[in-house]
Amino acid sequence: MTLDSYDLIFARGISATGPWEQILPHDFLQPHLLRTPESEGSDRFWMMEAWTESLKHHGLTQPNPAVGCVLVDAFGKEISRGLTQLFPGAHAEKTAFDRVTNSNSLVGGTAYVTLEPCAHTGRNASCADLLATSPIRRIVIARADPNPLVQGKGIQKLRAAGKDVTIGILSRELTAWNLNFLTQQILKRPLVALKWAQTLDGQLADDSMSSQWISGRTSRSYSHWLRQHYDLVLVGAQTLVSDFPQLDIRDCFRPHQGQPLPVFFDPKGILFQQPKEIQTQIKSRTLKPGRKCILIAPLSVLDKNPRSWLHGLSDLVILAQPGHSLAPELIDIISGPEVEKALGRPVQSVMIEGGSKTLTQFISAGYGDIFHCFAAPILTGGEKNRISIKKTLNQATRLHTIASNQLESDILIEMISEEVKNRIFLPS
Ligand SMILES: NC(=O)c1ccc[n+]([C@@H]2O[C@H](COP(=O)([O-])OP(=O)(O)OC[C@H]3O[C@@H](n4cnc5c(N)ncnc54)[C@H](OP(=O)(O)O)[C@@H]3O)[C@@H](O)[C@H]2O)c1
Repeated sequence: MTLDSYDLIFARGISATGPWEQILPHDFLQPHLLRTPESEGSDRFWMMEAWTESLKHHGLTQPNPAVGCVLVDAFGKEISRGLTQLFPGAHAEKTAFDRVTNSNSLVGGTAYVTLEPCAHTGRNASCADLLATSPIRRIVIARADPNPLVQGKGIQKLRAAGKDVTIGILSRELTAWNLNFLTQQILKRPLVALKWAQTLDGQLADDSMSSQWISGRTSRSYSHWLRQHYDLVLVGAQTLVSDFPQLDIRDCFRPHQGQPLPVFFDPKGILFQQPKEIQTQIKSRTLKPGRKCILIAPLSVLDKNPRSWLHGLSDLVILAQPGHSLAPELIDIISGPEVEKALGRPVQSVMIEGGSKTLTQFISAGYGDIFHCFAAPILTGGEKNRISIKKTLNQATRLHTIASNQLESDILIEMISEEVKNRIFLPS
């Protein structure tokens, strides 16, 4: 089955990483960002409820995906709901069943689950068995789970037990929601997200580097949500020197549930060569004593430059890049054991936040599974701060838009790569 690009675009009110009403502080929500309500009691209505439940553990369940489950009785009344607990806690289905007070209410009922129930017994009993042996009659699933231990086996178990199984409700939106997990399972590597804000004429900063914020406050609030969505946030050294970015999570609707692990990349050693005042600002505003961060620089840079200015940053992990091939080596390093140790779990995803040279490196090397691009109605002209990959239209990298939204006067376009479209989004 093929999907036209147009078929991929999400319904109104939904971004690439969730419904706007669950992401933005409510005073940032403009009417056009609200969803058209689903018809009450429909499969989409209940799947939306299951998704909303899973959103409460946004950024907390890795390496498990954040799954939601709602149990509904034969008369269409909600019985209970559950969500994946913090790793290695219970899965969503188990949490929902544990909250049932009257098991008779399950007879002839329906379970709505945002990802195929697991078929294997690990730390938790198999969710497929739980459902298969319950009096629930129908199971509605957003999409199949590619985990080799599951991969359709959960669905088979349910059908073998005589259950009525429906697959594919809100499948695109929930595929995007689980993209970090799905990329790791299907492509066997971390997901690479690229995020930037640009002027209408494609500048990420003006040529004097003086412009810190191009996008408006709603776009910046969404950027903070994205930092919560991905494991690592990576920026180039010049951005540290120009902006002293805090790279933390502020201004989201939901409580902040943990900060991403920042990774800084300094291929020329410019951080080591800054005047003392700039290094002091970088230390106090970005690297910050007590904050876990990673700094990656070539071995040659680390060998040559004194590191005394970094004293006091006991949680900073400095990693040497063996050569200069940039993007592929960086991906190897961030998938490696030191970063896993600093994060406390295997890395499933990284968001590259700029600047233009760092983004250019990744795009030129063919990285970029999902793109979050904010375009602001500003024209600066200039040529230094652009993504510059120098391809003809014939050779151009083609992306597929999944969501396009106006955030105040900015336009946010969210796109996936051809590989992600074909290997992860296609209905299984
Ligand atoms: N609008 C946005 O979304 C956004 C986001 C982040 C940053 N910014 C802006 O972007 C500006 C900084 O961006 P930037 O592009 O100059 O630097 P950057 O990507 O932040 O940092 C890249 C650093 O790596 C060095 N480098 C050396 N060889 C490289 C190579 N082959 N590929 C990539 N980098 C290499 C660069 O040195 P050389 O410069 O000497 O080559 C630079 O020091 C700041 O003004 C910041 O405000 C905008």
